[in-house]
Amino acid sequence: AAGPLILTIESSCDETAMAVTDSHGVVCASVVATQIDFHARFGGVVPEIASRKHTEAIVGVFEETLARAGEHFGVDTLAPSDLAAVGVTAGPGLVGALVVGVAFAKGLCAAADLPLIAVHHLEGHLMANLFETPDLEPPFVASIVSGGNTMLVHVRAWGDYVLLGATIDDAVGEAFDKVAKALGLGYPGGPVISKLSAQGNPKAIHFPRAMMHSGDYSFSLSGLKTAVITYIEGENRAGRPINLPDLAASFEAAVIDVQVAKAVSAVEETGVADFCVGGGVAANPGLRAAYKRALEKRGVRVTVPPMRACGDNAAMIGIAALRSYNAGSFSPLTLDADPNAAL
Ligand code: KG4
Repeated sequence: AAGPLILTIESSCDETAMAVTDSHGVVCASVVATQIDFHARFGGVVPEIASRKHTEAIVGVFEETLARAGEHFGVDTLAPSDLAAVGVTAGPGLVGALVVGVAFAKGLCAAADLPLIAVHHLEGHLMANLFETPDLEPPFVASIVSGGNTMLVHVRAWGDYVLLGATIDDAVGEAFDKVAKALGLGYPGGPVISKLSAQGNPKAIHFPRAMMHSGDYSFSLSGLKTAVITYIEGENRAGRPINLPDLAASFEAAVIDVQVAKAVSAVEETGVADFCVGGGVAANPGLRAAYKRALEKRGVRVTVPPMRACGDNAAMIGIAALRSYNAGSFSPLTLDADPNAAL
């Protein structure tokens, strides 16, 4: 007996994802249809394309998710009547992308007479840490680093979040994507830059560590991006070949040094014993290792999500939705997408 099953939907950016989670938090099915190929030649996510692709994919993702959940239980497929609730990412994200998931969720709830649960996308990224570390409990500090966000959050309790600071311009993932674009390495930039950087010398080129000593938890990435692009242009003008691994490693080191310095301050100021990471850039091996090195020697436990759960997925939304379900916290069918939802 798996208890009530919750279907969750995630469509905030460029993945159309659905999952089925049981009452113990076991993921019975998780399907992610990525649109990366349709955005790659533009070097970033094009909101209008994202919205259209979600519309095209969402019914197929729904059918695939119910079929895989059926397999999990040894039956052909699940039916909507097997579900106890529907959870959906309501924000933050691209409004035209979010509305596709929210409209689908509301339609399903109306048709199958199911309760609706609104989930905050960033809370989903935090919950992804619970897959392998179910005993992670607030209070802790979280670093949320993705294509759209870069922030440090003091999680005092689940649902009680204090934003310590955020980027004042580009997000960390965006910086990876823009540097990769300048080098003609395609989209998304994070995976390719982190692979290159593993072979390079992080001290080869000095790039600025913006706001490292600003005394607060704000970040700025646009100057670093510009410094890297200026360096590339200078080398090109001088006719010198660019050492890609060294460039990648030096760029990544500049990002990581600032992330780690601010994480250490945040942990010391709040006095927490736990730290975790969430978002697409949490998959960066250098960042994961640097957080562990700096914080574990200060007696702070560092939790990271499994690699497969760093990028956008609906299984992490399922863990958040299950908590709301157990708390009896549901949303009316008048729910709207909230592209700027505050944490
Ligand atoms: O969380 P996510 O899937 O979507 C957003 O909500 O933004 O994050 C995608 C971002 C992209 O900018 C991508 O380049 C970055 O995460 N990323 C990485 C790595 N893997 C993905 N950045 C650095 N290193 C990685 N290994």
